[in-house]
Amino acid sequence: MRNITEHNVTEAVKKSFERIDDPRLRYLIGELVHSVHAYARETRLTHEEWRAALDFLHRSAAITNDSRSEFTLLSDVLGLSSLVDLLASSPGATQGSVLGPFHSRGSPWVESGASLIKDNAGEPVLLRGRVTDIHGVPLPDATVDFWQNADNGLYWQLDSTQPQDNLRCQLHVLADGTFELMVIRPRPYMVPTDGPIGDLLRVSHRDAWRPSHYHVIVEAPGYRTLVTEIFDADDPYVAQDAVFGVRESLVAAFKPGNDPAVREKYQLAGAYRVVDCPVKLAAAA
Ligand code: BEZ
Ligand code: FE
Repeated sequence: MRNITEHNVTEAVKKSFERIDDPRLRYLIGELVHSVHAYARETRLTHEEWRAALDFLHRSAAITNDSRSEFTLLSDVLGLSSLVDLLASSPGATQGSVLGPFHSRGSPWVESGASLIKDNAGEPVLLRGRVTDIHGVPLPDATVDFWQNADNGLYWQLDSTQPQDNLRCQLHVLADGTFELMVIRPRPYMVPTDGPIGDLLRVSHRDAWRPSHYHVIVEAPGYRTLVTEIFDADDPYVAQDAVFGVRESLVAAFKPGNDPAVREKYQLAGAYRVVDCPVKLAAAA
């Protein structure tokens, strides 16, 4: 088009992408152009503001490396990661929640009934789960991938004082779909604030805290993989998660446990807590 104006530029740009072969990608790019142009129009975006936004993205790229993505964190603090999780949720199934940056494949396999406590400080917690379909039928072929932070709030990848693979594992559920692990009570944790996302949180007077949580990925053949979290109902930040991951259905009571057989089995000298984690998976489409 020879005469680009404020009024025809959006259509011209959308048209320039119309030869994308994949119809879904063509649709996504067209809608992106539409929304970004509408934003600039509605806000009357200035040159200074546009340059500041590009500088923000440049700084995000500069601090991103193999073990840290400032762009994922941007998606998290904008609630986009959470919205995508919510849009993908299946009626009747356990709700999903953010994956976060501290998962990687290849955790050590353990048997249900293992203790991950080893040399960790912290309050012992018996995490008990049962994996079923949405009608409550057990899924004996399910696997659970679990990870959590240590008593100092850090995941093992960011803390050289912790052994490799500390407080993470994978397991096969038992024939009745149940599993249990002896773990520790998780701690609240701050998302990284030393990059541009930290600046964004500070200028917004927003907290960087995530309430204490466990992460699980539950998979079973023929069912949709569930990526979710279990939150501690007593955590002070449970209503103000920096990444909007909390759903009421994922908030669990950490109940006091007092079964001598549990103390004996896990060689616990003192008090422990119990968390129940029923998991319902939706059938794959
Ligand atoms: C976490 O679960 O640890 C996490 C999630 C999103 C951003 C940063 C951390
Ligand atoms: Fe986490």
